[in-house]
Amino acid sequence: MDDENKLSNGILVADFGSQVTLLIARRLREKGIYCEVVPYNRLRDKLEAAPKGVILSGGPASIAGGNDAMPRAPERLFRENIPVLGICYGEQLLCAQLGGEVAPSHGREFGNANITVRQDSPLFDGIFAAGDSAPVWMSHGDHISQLPEGFTAIATTQDAPFAAIADESRKLYGLQFHPEVVHTPNGADILFNFATKIANASPDWTMGSFLNEATAKLREDIGGGHVIAALSGGVDSSVASVLIHKAIGDRLHCVFVDTGLLRQGEAEQITSLFQQHYDIPLIAINAQKRFLDALHNVTDPEEKRKKIGNLFIEIFEEEADKIGNIEFLAQGTLYPDVIESISPHGGPSVKIKSHHNVGGLPERMNLKLIEPLRSLFKDEVRSLGAELGLPEAFLKRHPFPGPGLAVRIPGEVTIEKLEILRQADDIFIRALHEHGLYDDIWQAFAALLPVRAVGVMGDARSYQYACALRAVASSDGMTAAVSDLPGEFLNEVATRIVNQVDGINRVLYDFTSKPPGTIEWE
Ligand code: XMP
Repeated sequence: MDDENKLSNGILVADFGSQVTLLIARRLREKGIYCEVVPYNRLRDKLEAAPKGVILSGGPASIAGGNDAMPRAPERLFRENIPVLGICYGEQLLCAQLGGEVAPSHGREFGNANITVRQDSPLFDGIFAAGDSAPVWMSHGDHISQLPEGFTAIATTQDAPFAAIADESRKLYGLQFHPEVVHTPNGADILFNFATKIANASPDWTMGSFLNEATAKLREDIGGGHVIAALSGGVDSSVASVLIHKAIGDRLHCVFVDTGLLRQGEAEQITSLFQQHYDIPLIAINAQKRFLDALHNVTDPEEKRKKIGNLFIEIFEEEADKIGNIEFLAQGTLYPDVIESISPHGGPSVKIKSHHNVGGLPERMNLKLIEPLRSLFKDEVRSLGAELGLPEAFLKRHPFPGPGLAVRIPGEVTIEKLEILRQADDIFIRALHEHGLYDDIWQAFAALLPVRAVGVMGDARSYQYACALRAVASSDGMTAAVSDLPGEFLNEVATRIVNQVDGINRVLYDFTSKPPGTIEWE
C-alpha cells in the first residue's frame, strides 16, 4: 500500500506555520490514525489522495482586517464535503473563507484557559457533555467576531466566545485552543474523535501494518537492484538496514566503518548484532589507524569534523567500488528531517537538518536514495525496531554523533586519550543504568578536557586529565536543559572514575544548557 492509499483511510494536516503542527500528526498516529502533514499550499494537490478528513493547523499569519495575502485553504476543500477541523489560525481561516468575520484582539490570549461546553457534539463525545468545564491551552492574537452561517459555538471561555465551533451538518469544526499540546489534557481525545467519529478514519495504523507496507514498497522500488548502507551503530541506520534486509535479503550490503572513535564495546556489539543475531552480512572495516593518522595534530573542531567526514566517505567509496553494481544508497532519514515547514516569515520553506554523515555521497557516487523511515518519528522508529526484533537496550541507546568521541576530546585526539575517555564514559553510562536514570535522559556522556590537574593519590602526587560529565534533557537535540542528577549519584560516579581510570584525577559536571552551549563539546 503506498502513501496515497494510506491517506485514503487517514487524516491530512495542512501546515500554516504553527510551531506545534507536527504534534497534531503525532497525537493521531499515537492512536493508530495514519496522518500526514503538508504545507498549506500543497493541500489542493494532496486532496487527490482523498483523505478522510483535513485539519488546518495554527499559524502566525493574521486574517483580521481583510488581509488579501493571507495563506488560505483551497476553495475545493469546502466544495467536496470533506470533514474539516480548523485549529487556532485554522479556525479563523475556516470562518473567514466561509463568510464569517475575524477581528484583532487588544492583547494576545496566551496560556491556560478553561472552556465551558455549551452543547453536546461528536467532537466531544465520551469526553465532555454540555455544562462541563475543562482546561485548554490558548495562543492567539485575532479572534472570531462573527460566525459564518450554519455554525454555532459549542464551547466558550471567558475571553473567547467561539472557543469551539461547529457546523455539524457539514462536518466543519473549529477550535480556538490547541488540542495537540499536552497542556490541553483532553486534546488528543478530541483529535481522535474528529478523526474517527466525524471523519470515519480507521484507527488501524500499526507498526505491524507499516512493516508490511514498507517491505512491499521497498521490493517494488528496488526491483532487482543492489543497495549499500552505511551502518553507524545508531538506531536509525540499524533499523533501516534490518528493514531493507527483510525486504531484499543479501542484495543489501551493509558497511560498518570502525573509526576507532566509538564508545566502549560498540564495534563488537554492532558486528555481533548484525552477523550473529540477524545473519546479515556486514562488511566491517577496521580503519582506526587511518582515522588517528588523519587527526594527527588537528585541534580545530571544524577541521576535525571535515577530516573525519571526508575519510569516512573515502573508505565508503572504496568499499562500494569493491562490491560494484550498486544502484541505491540507504539512509535512516526521519520525518522531522524531511518535513516541509512554513517559515513564520513568509512562504513555505524547506527545513532539512543535514546531520547525515554520508551527505553528498548520493550525487558523488551517482546513487539513488532509499529512505524507508522518512515518514516516521523517532519513537516510531523505536517501535519499528522492536517489531523487527532489535533488542530494547539497543533501541533505547542515547544518540551518538557521527564524528564520535573526537568531538568529546577538545584538542588533539590520541589513542591514549580515546582509551581514557572510553573507560570514564562507560563507568558513567553503566552507573546511569544501575540507578534507573538512563532512560529518562536524552543524552549522557563524558568528555575529556585538554587540561591536567594536580591531585594526591595514596601518598603520591598525581598530574592527570580532568573529565566533564554531561547529561541533558531534550526532545530533538535542538535545545537542551541540563539533567538534574542527584549529587550523591554524581559523587559516586566521580569516585569510581578517579579510582578506576588511570589518567583522570578530577571530574566536573557540565551545567550548560543549549543554547547557549551545544550538546557536544565541539
Ligand atoms: P549539538 O552538539 O549540535 O548536537 O548540540 C545536537 C545533537 O546532534 C548530535 N550530533 C551529531 N549527530 N552527526 C550526527 O549524526 C554529527 O555530526 C553530529 N554532531 C552532533 C549530538 O550528539 C546531539 O544529539
